[in-house]
Amino acid sequence: MQNDADVIARDHAEREFPFPRPAGPLGPPLEYARLRAVQPLSSVKLWDGSRAWIATRWEDVRAILGSPHFSVDPFRPGYPSVSPARAVQARSRQAFINMDDPDHARFRRMLTKDFMQKRMSDLRPMVRTLIDGLIDKMIEHGPPLDFVEYFSQPLPSMVISALLGVPYEDHTKLGTWSNTRNDHTASPEVVQEAVRKMEAHLGLIIERKEADPGDGRDMLSRLVIEQIRPGHVTREEVVRIASLLYSAGHGTTGSQIGLGTLSLLMNPDQRAELDADPSLLASAVEEMLRFHTIAHFNSARVATADVMIGDQLIRAGEGVYPLIFAANRDPAVFPNPDTFDIHRNPQEHVAFAYGIHQCLGQPLARLELQTVFSMLFKRLPGLRLAVPVEALTFNSTSQVYRVEALPVTW
Ligand code: HEM
Repeated sequence: MQNDADVIARDHAEREFPFPRPAGPLGPPLEYARLRAVQPLSSVKLWDGSRAWIATRWEDVRAILGSPHFSVDPFRPGYPSVSPARAVQARSRQAFINMDDPDHARFRRMLTKDFMQKRMSDLRPMVRTLIDGLIDKMIEHGPPLDFVEYFSQPLPSMVISALLGVPYEDHTKLGTWSNTRNDHTASPEVVQEAVRKMEAHLGLIIERKEADPGDGRDMLSRLVIEQIRPGHVTREEVVRIASLLYSAGHGTTGSQIGLGTLSLLMNPDQRAELDADPSLLASAVEEMLRFHTIAHFNSARVATADVMIGDQLIRAGEGVYPLIFAANRDPAVFPNPDTFDIHRNPQEHVAFAYGIHQCLGQPLARLELQTVFSMLFKRLPGLRLAVPVEALTFNSTSQVYRVEALPVTW
């Protein structure tokens, strides 16, 4: 007779990945915990009938992300995708997030100094000014209003636009194209069109900077001077870098600010503790990153050699999802993982992934998040939800999980 573990594993093998979130909008799919307990590397079915492995233990997820035997190249046979749109997105996103070393390292190196700690500290006054300005506008409008529209979405768009040297007025167009591109449920043609428009628009901006890079202080002007002019890279390559940085830089951080704010509004005791003790700020932000793990289907991998992960042999050519959301809810590393706890200081979380593709923009994301949560509740002490939590809607069909709107009052 088969034991429970076999039954659970077989049952899940026939379900199509990705799984829904019946445990509520902030909880991972129930399958993650079940599979982690009985079969931490599980074979799942994808939309096109192909199969891929999903990894649900923190240890295995880190092992895959840290291994040189997995590729992020979507053109390799066996590279998995969660939908037809996602297959097109990955292939049309030939920036370094979808390249293996040494190409990946060559491009990433061009940007490392832009995200160094010192550069981030220099940005702090600008971020504070932007936050103050957005809160002034909220106060001017008066409650209630949608926090996503008035605050969590515009702030990272303003910051990344300033860093790249892209006019902020373009954010509606760029934001819409970027969201369409990341929507798993869009039709492949619509995704392709959004990519084309976004790249054409950024191409024009870069062309203008080639004609006149000004003082060369913004990132794109610097890339023009240091990389395009000496012939190290082409304009098209810089367009793809710009497109990656814009998409990665605004949607992610915007979503994290929205969901982080929601967590504190749902946990008033912890919010009061944070107000009273600013030394909890860094730990609170890490816990928001761990708890929500917004990049919920982070980049797929395909094995380039036969590799043992835990007790499971993954063969060359097989697709894998190292699920960072599941890893960040692994009780072996994070006791009571489904509880939001700002005291936890979860240094080992993998919300920014791990290994060579670990998020390049994480110092910027941390700067924005820590500055927001050091200012928001001081300026709006009465901030609270204007609707019951149950009335909120969440988007799980994008590469980045997010709350659609957050009606607040104060
Ligand atoms: C809370 C905010 C953010 C989260 C949770 C996040 C998460 C991630 C994750 C999980 C990856 C790895 C994907 C993979 O494994 O393939 C990644 C990569 C990346 N992120 Fe972020 N990110 C955030 C903000 C940002 C910002 C603000 C930027 C910069 C503008 C940025 C730029 C990038 C880039 C360029 C990569 C590709 C790195 C590489 O392939 O070497 N991210 N991010």
